[in-house]
Amino acid sequence: MEFVEWTEKYSTGNALVDAYHHIFFQMVQEFSLTLKDEDAPPMQERIAFLVDYTFMHFDSEERMMERANYPEFEEHCAAHVRFKEQVKAIQQEYLAHPDAVKAEEVLSLVQDWFAHHILGEDMRYKPWVETH
Ligand SMILES: [Fe+2]
Ligand SMILES: [Fe+2]
Repeated sequence: MEFVEWTEKYSTGNALVDAYHHIFFQMVQEFSLTLKDEDAPPMQERIAFLVDYTFMHFDSEERMMERANYPEFEEHCAAHVRFKEQVKAIQQEYLAHPDAVKAEEVLSLVQDWFAHHILGEDMRYKPWVETH
C-alpha cells in the first residue's frame, strides 16, 4: 500500500491536531511494515490501539472545535461518529472472525479515510480556529 506522509498540505493550523494526524500516519505505516514481524504485537492489540487512538484524536479535536465555537461542530462530530462505528465494526468482526479481516485492507481503509477527512472536513475549520 501507498503510505501517506504528513506534509504541510495536511496542516490544520492547530499544533496539537497536526501532531495527532502526523503520528496517525506514522502508526499506520509502522503497523503495516511490521505485519509479518513475529515479535510485533498481535493484530488484535494493533486494532485495539488504532481504535483507541482514533477515539482519542476525535475527542481532542472535538474539544478544540468546541472551544473555538466552530459553527459546523455538529456535522463534523457526526462524521467522526460514523467512522467510529466503522472501526468498531471492524474490531468486532476481527474478534469474531480473525481470518476474515485483512490487516492491510484495514490499514489502507483507515489511512484513506483519514487523509480524505483531514483534507476535507478538518480543513473546513482551519480558517475558523485560526481566527477564534
Ligand atoms: Fe482530525
Ligand atoms: Fe475531524
